[in-house]
Amino acid sequence: MNVQIINGPNLNLLGVREKSVYGDKGFEEYLEQLRKRYTHITINYFQSNVEGEIINKLHEVGFTADGIVMNAGAYTHTSIAIADAIAAIKAPVIEVHISNVYKREEFRHKSLLAANCKGVIAGFGLDSYRLAIENLANG
Ligand code: DQA
Repeated sequence: MNVQIINGPNLNLLGVREKSVYGDKGFEEYLEQLRKRYTHITINYFQSNVEGEIINKLHEVGFTADGIVMNAGAYTHTSIAIADAIAAIKAPVIEVHISNVYKREEFRHKSLLAANCKGVIAGFGLDSYRLAIENLANG
C-alpha cells in the first residue's frame, strides 16, 4: 500500500512554529516514527509552501497512490484550486489538521476542501496523520 502525505504552507516549521498550538516535534521526526510503525505501508512525504506545487503533486500521485493524507494549512480555508484538484483525481484524500480548527478563529472553521475529501480529522496533534493512515489502511 502506498500513501502520500502532503503538507502545505508553514508546516515545514513544525517544532519551531507556535509550539503551544502545533507541538514541539518536527515533522521529519514524526514521519520516521510513522514509517517504523507502518512498515507494510510505503509512506511518501511532500511539503510545499506554494499552492501550484501542491496541485502538481496531487496530479502526479492522484491516479496511483492508494490514498492521500493532506494538511493544506491555511490553503484549506482559501483554495478553490486545491479543492478542484482533489475532485479531479482518483485517490481518496483525507483532510487533516493538527489543531482543533473549530476551537480557533472563525476563519479556520470553513474548509473549501472537505466536501471533496473522504473525511476530515482535526485536533489530535500529529496523531491526526496516523488516524488518517489507519483509515486508509482499513479500506
Ligand atoms: C492547520 C490549521 C490551519 O488553520 C492553519 O492555517 C495551519 C495548520 C493545522 O494543522 O492545525 O497552517 O492546518
